[in-house]
Amino acid sequence: MKRVYDETCRVLANRRIVNDIWMLKIHCPQIAATILPGQFVMLKVGAASDPLLRRPLTVARIDREEGAISILYRAVGRGTELMTRWEPGHSSSVLGPLGNGFTLPERVKGIALLGRDIGIGPLLALVEEGLARGAAVYAFLSSRYREVLELAAFAGGNCKTWLFPDGDRWQCGPFLTRKLEEIAAEKALDRIYIGGLCKFCPSCNLIRETHRLGTRWGIEVQVSLDQYMACGLGACQGCIVELFEDESQVAKVYRRVCKEGPVFRTWEVVKNG
Ligand SMILES: Cc1cc2nc3c(=O)[nH]c(=O)nc-3n(C[C@H](O)[C@H](O)[C@H](O)COP(=O)(O)OP(=O)(O)OC[C@H]3O[C@@H](n4cnc5c(N)ncnc54)[C@H](O)[C@@H]3O)c2cc1C
Ligand code: FES
Repeated sequence: MKRVYDETCRVLANRRIVNDIWMLKIHCPQIAATILPGQFVMLKVGAASDPLLRRPLTVARIDREEGAISILYRAVGRGTELMTRWEPGHSSSVLGPLGNGFTLPERVKGIALLGRDIGIGPLLALVEEGLARGAAVYAFLSSRYREVLELAAFAGGNCKTWLFPDGDRWQCGPFLTRKLEEIAAEKALDRIYIGGLCKFCPSCNLIRETHRLGTRWGIEVQVSLDQYMACGLGACQGCIVELFEDESQVAKVYRRVCKEGPVFRTWEVVKNG
């Protein structure tokens, strides 16, 4: 079993990207040494017991040499609002790495990534990992903010990005999957990833449509799910979702998003056809 560390982290940088979207960089060398793309940390955001629960946040960038990770976050409530006030030097407690993370095939030639807005965060680390493993990376990303899309201006490497400035979450699914379909015929793809941070929602058109394409092409599609969490460690059963047990999709099982996830294969999440 992989080791989970409880570290005191130090804020290295905390900058507003645009509007309510921020990028936090923290020094946490033990976690940074082992965390993988798609895994998350539980961050203590209040000084005392308010708020009581740690907040789950996915790693967006990993800098192993510096012993640091970055997190792309949206300030939506009490905890994340408190985080926006953190200055460099501020320290807090962080638990991780947690969850399973995305997996790359052993001999990977090409991967496609799809994500929107804050869901782009988990994909950033995956792009870097894919490029380091020599894969061609095709990223289909949408956001209503130019500044968020600019985060995906990856430095060099064999990465091609299609950026879609959108204002409507319902539009982005069809656009991204149409683009994916256009390139898939001529590129060798081994796996497709959705950096959804989707609340468990089998009707999400991005997951449904990507799953349909993946099934047609015989390519595994992985999606990162978001669910309310309390412990983040698999103990409280607070993040349970009901998923398909196997690809026959006959039986359903309960899974803990924090432990068996947050990354699942789309056949676990959405019904075929
Ligand atoms: C595994 C995992 C990874 C995550 N990674 C990221 C990340 O990288 N970046 C990021 O910005 N967010 C991420 N989230 C969501 C993030 O944890 C929540 O937005 C955060 O906990 C809200 O805390 P708060 O105190 O600011 O808001 P609260 O005051 O607790 O709630 C404010 C509002 O946010 C909603 N909310 C609370 N928790 C969630 C949640 N888990 N999902 C969706 N809505 C929620 C509430 O319903 C409420 O409307 C992740 C969640 C999970 C489960
Ligand atoms: S949050 Fe406690 S089991 Fe998942």
